[in-house]
Amino acid sequence: MGCQMNEYDSEYLSSRLNEMGFAPVDAPEKADVVLINTCTVREKADQKAFSLLGRVSRLKLRQPGMILGLAGCLAQKEGNRLFKRFPQLDFIIGPRELGNIGTVLDDVSTCRKKRAAISLDHSPLTSFTRPLRNGKITAYISIMQGCNNFCAYCIVPYVRGREISRPPEDIVAEARQLIANGTKEITLLGQNVNSYLWNEDKNHDFSALLHELNALKGLLRLRFTTSHPKDLTDDLIHCFTKLDKLCPHIHLPFQAGANKVLRRMKRGYTREHYMTLVKRLREVVPDIAITSDVMVGFPGESRNDFEQTLDLVDKIQFDSLFSFKYSDRKGTLASYMKNKVSEEEKASRLSVLQNLQDAITLKKNRSLENRELPVLIEGYSKKNTQLMGRTGSNKIVNLTLNTIYIGCIVNVYIHKGHLHSLSGRPLDFGRSLIT
Ligand code: SAH
Ligand code: SF4
Ligand code: F3S
Repeated sequence: MGCQMNEYDSEYLSSRLNEMGFAPVDAPEKADVVLINTCTVREKADQKAFSLLGRVSRLKLRQPGMILGLAGCLAQKEGNRLFKRFPQLDFIIGPRELGNIGTVLDDVSTCRKKRAAISLDHSPLTSFTRPLRNGKITAYISIMQGCNNFCAYCIVPYVRGREISRPPEDIVAEARQLIANGTKEITLLGQNVNSYLWNEDKNHDFSALLHELNALKGLLRLRFTTSHPKDLTDDLIHCFTKLDKLCPHIHLPFQAGANKVLRRMKRGYTREHYMTLVKRLREVVPDIAITSDVMVGFPGESRNDFEQTLDLVDKIQFDSLFSFKYSDRKGTLASYMKNKVSEEEKASRLSVLQNLQDAITLKKNRSLENRELPVLIEGYSKKNTQLMGRTGSNKIVNLTLNTIYIGCIVNVYIHKGHLHSLSGRPLDFGRSLIT
């Protein structure tokens, strides 16, 4: 559960456990070690994790030999008090300590003592081998850890620590390893990838890293997320035209449409600046898909402020939008602000916003009908009856096709645009197949 970085961390943990000789099982009651990776970005994430932890704790009562660990952002936030609330818990490990999972687990299993590994001073994860990932067509690589932005509502800087970039040679080595194992598309991850910088050296900034990865043989597609509007440079915008593997899609969270709210959120840009960025992106890359995050009901957000969010969504016409109700995170600046918006009001604003966006998403997807688009085939569709792939703009396409095309880019004729996906049929392989 959590963001893509959290997913990446889960893969890291399962690979490390695999190296230590543990094999995955299909049910927690069969496991010698249960490790739950957690998120804490909103209250809902906490509740989900606590309820799972409660269930596994009860299981452990019947199997006292089991080792139970909690990893990730919630473990970092809650710290040692978790051992009181969940006496069955053996260890906790924060996002910055994941590299030490081996020693933590060894300590716990040999000494049977509780362990809390929650220092925030460690460097990012070093590269690792991923036996579990072989053959995965798309993969993530985390290029940095932490965040320095301290947006007023956000817990991430407190649980992930200060921003620190990984060495480019590690990132490239990890990419090469993935490609050798069959990966065709890589998504670079960071809370704010635009500020990637190795050793304070301008020659090793984010654009330079993209150039390096774009040159890797065998890689078909490159993506990245998340970009912060205050740091989106012209140089990066031009990467979309210069780099043939970089997909025409940017995820650019705007969070709120009213300048007053943006200022109180400490986002560091205005509504006008955001709109200018979008205009610039579309001038340089006319077909670019733009997706975003937004929240409703930030403390002090008036009806009129919310109208400005709706207005911005209507003006920009995002390809899709992740929208959330503001959730109080203890210790953040916003948690001390007055004029909290009621749950009912937040829910009603969210539903108005989501209805507006659904109509826009559907319209955008329908506008792709009767077009021919390159699609990277990733594997089976959700219903398992067809294959699925993605357009460069990151839209899911379901189609009927022989499985030998998994991992290939195929030109697809789109015959129907739905709210969450597109349906298509493959065209002329001889001409269009890229492997
Ligand atoms: N680094 C990214 C986002 C990280 S968190 C960025 O700066 O955009 C992912 C999303 O969760 C955020 O974009 C925001 O919309 C949402 N979010 C973060 N804290 C939240 C909170 N306290 N309540 C509701 N949504 C929140
Ligand atoms: Fe949170 Fe802001 Fe950092 Fe994103 S940029 S992780 S929203 S503090
Ligand atoms: Fe959640 Fe931590 Fe990601 S709080 S959103 S898992 S950085």
